[in-house]
Amino acid sequence: MKDVEFIATSFAVPERVVTNDQLASFMDTSDEWISKRTGIKRRHISEKENTSSLAFRAVKQLQEKSNFTPDEIDLIIVATMSPDNMTPSTAAMVQEMLGAKNAVAFDLSAACSGFSYALSVARSILLSNHWQKAIVIGAEVLSKLIDWRDRSTAVLFGDGAGAVLLSASEEKHVLGQDLKTFGELGNKLTAGYTKPMKNLLENNRQMSAFEMDGREVYRFVTHQVPDSILRAVQQANISLNAIDHFLLHQANERIIKQVAKKLDQPLSKFPMNIAEYGNTAAASEAILLAECVANNVIKKGDVIAMSGFGGGLTIATLIFKF
Ligand code: COA
Repeated sequence: MKDVEFIATSFAVPERVVTNDQLASFMDTSDEWISKRTGIKRRHISEKENTSSLAFRAVKQLQEKSNFTPDEIDLIIVATMSPDNMTPSTAAMVQEMLGAKNAVAFDLSAACSGFSYALSVARSILLSNHWQKAIVIGAEVLSKLIDWRDRSTAVLFGDGAGAVLLSASEEKHVLGQDLKTFGELGNKLTAGYTKPMKNLLENNRQMSAFEMDGREVYRFVTHQVPDSILRAVQQANISLNAIDHFLLHQANERIIKQVAKKLDQPLSKFPMNIAEYGNTAAASEAILLAECVANNVIKKGDVIAMSGFGGGLTIATLIFKF
């Protein structure tokens, strides 16, 4: 066994769509501001489904596409920053729902870089244990972490899940990778802070909502993402022009355009679905990959640079042959 390959991809999003105009009906914002600054038009927001249910819906589709039996799955990783619980993990819940009794399952927390981090970790675990099959999921119900009165963050995020089935391969598929964490910038994007209790009988547990220094994150990302892609490309020992598609985390259309410009690559190589889903954090790249495969934009053998970035702050680029 030399590497892992992508066998199937899938995604699931909540039915309910919330448009920019709908947001403008209860907060001081407008479709014009949101569209112009971010490229977002709509987002899917969950009413009943939690993170595990969206993740499982994506996994059921994966199963329909690739016909695996639950017993064959050795590993399940859910990348999420909005798990159902602190414990059990969302991955353990998915394992139970699927009946994948042989699978080791755990969550991975790296915010919007989570899916790329999880692919890298899943690959390492399969390779080092000579395991055969892993399901890697990015799943979020971010709407439960949003302060819906804060227009600076509420307009940006959405809910959804995407999944891939990885399988052992005798051929090289992952050509290069670059993972980095900038803990010193952690306070630029935070959510879900819980504080220790002063009084043991205190029972008012609370979690903080999203808070973000948008301008700082924007500056960080537009500088770091091109550098990360260049490092990964160098490791892969290929030229930038050999990359067929750049799948960037869908946080802001302006960020994606700027990265394309800095890399001097045509925007047509940067598929986008941010208008429909907004920023779905760890689910973002997984949904984009699955949509591109479903629409025949990405085909077997295409070379992909996938780049996630966000809370931590974190950056993760993988170059792989699909
Ligand atoms: N609707 C209308 N006005 C809004 C608004 C909204 N939803 N949110 C903020 N504004 C206002 C601000 O109050 C500010 O008004 P002022 O000039 O009167 O003070 C003005 O718009 C500009 O705000 P600013 O925050 O400077 O806008 P921006 O051009 O930086 O765009 C982001 C904001 C969040 C879209 C942008 O900074 C960004 O995309 N950052 C990166 C975020 C990111 O990628 N995060 C996820 C990483 S995973």
